Amino acid sequence: MLGIESSCDDTAAAVVTSDGRVLGEAIAGQAAIHAPYGGVHPALASQAHAAAIDRVVADALSRAGLSQHDLSAVAVTVGPGLSLCLDVGVRKARAVSRAAALPLVPVHHMEAHTLVARLAGLAAHAASGGDGGGVLRDGEPAPAFPFLCLLVSGGHNLLVVVRGVGDYLQLGSTLDDALGEAYDKVARMLGLELNPHGGAALEAAARLGDASRYALSVPMQKHANCDFSFAGLKTGVRLCIESELPPEGDPGRQQAVADIAASFQSVATQHLCQRVRRGIGWARDSLQGGSSAGSGGSSNSSSSSSSSSDGGSGSGLDGSAAALRHLVVAGGVASNQYIRQQLAQVAEAAGLQLVVPPARWCTDNGVMVAWAGIERYRLGLYQPPLGPLQLAAGE
Ligand code: KG4
Ligand code: ZN
Repeated sequence: MLGIESSCDDTAAAVVTSDGRVLGEAIAGQAAIHAPYGGVHPALASQAHAAAIDRVVADALSRAGLSQHDLSAVAVTVGPGLSLCLDVGVRKARAVSRAAALPLVPVHHMEAHTLVARLAGLAAHAASGGDGGGVLRDGEPAPAFPFLCLLVSGGHNLLVVVRGVGDYLQLGSTLDDALGEAYDKVARMLGLELNPHGGAALEAAARLGDASRYALSVPMQKHANCDFSFAGLKTGVRLCIESELPPEGDPGRQQAVADIAASFQSVATQHLCQRVRRGIGWARDSLQGGSSAGSGGSSNSSSSSSSSSDGGSGSGLDGSAAALRHLVVAGGVASNQYIRQQLAQVAEAAGLQLVVPPARWCTDNGVMVAWAGIERYRLGLYQPPLGPLQLAAGE
């Protein structure tokens, strides 16, 4: 499966096999292009995708030692994302599909972030010589469905029960910013390096800081639900910077930056952990046919599922209660080591195993799209090939 990703500011492609081997990967980032704008500039992003897409796909194929005619299918991110950017990937995927008469698999970006955890399980299994975890008895990749997934990226902040491919129960989402976005904005306020993103720079600064020096409040203490909010915390950081941060050139400034970074990270992570702890209870209730999911808070936290509209499934859930065994953390922020450690403790206390894909599969990449394509293809969720003759007849 060739996977193509161009939803935001990374042009990426990869070739992955259905038994979980990554044969070739390529990626072209655009951080330097967008740095002066303080966010992704859609028109420039689309131009950069258009300039890079042929090379990135060719590189992924050549690293795999394959031509497009050796592929079985092509998967592409169709949303959510910047439409000008998505178009570039979709056009390329259509061109490959036509040229080599391949089925086309449309992939949801967030589903790709989620399902790549199962590829990570298979890869760990293969790396261990076949003795490691990662594959269940029936050949099903681990984590098996259902699992709880915290998706934390620059654009999304979701807590979902993943019951199967295309079968999700949303427990909560953000009321304002996503955590990655908050990391990027706080990094900018603190004057940290933003290339490729502010998140990693803020994590590095926080490692040298004292989280207890500045008191920031944990968001949404009065809302007993699974939603997230980072706008108030961001304002708290801004006020703290205005009143406490020594001016440029002051010898105490660097330490104060580290201390504010540490305090932000600690409080944001406490908020995540609190929501995840509650979400584990809600997920267990919902899987046992209980009804507490959504009962504790705002209407935003009520459950929703995309299973029927999407034709998904593959869950193997037959109505009997399936045990929750894994907490998956996915999306760009999941590469944060501090957040991983804290969530590992939450998972352990609840008797769950924490699964976090390797960092390079947490940020946007082609492997996750190829893998989500494989999971969908297996279930017949693809468009039949548009061969050149068929196209000529149809157009
Ligand atoms: O998943 P992703 O590559 O793109 C989106 O779909 O949004 O996530 C990018 C986000 C950025 O906001 C970035 O700052 C954040 O993930 N991020 C981090 C870390 N590495 C990337 N946030 C916190 N700590 C990190 N180490
Ligand atoms: Zn993403």
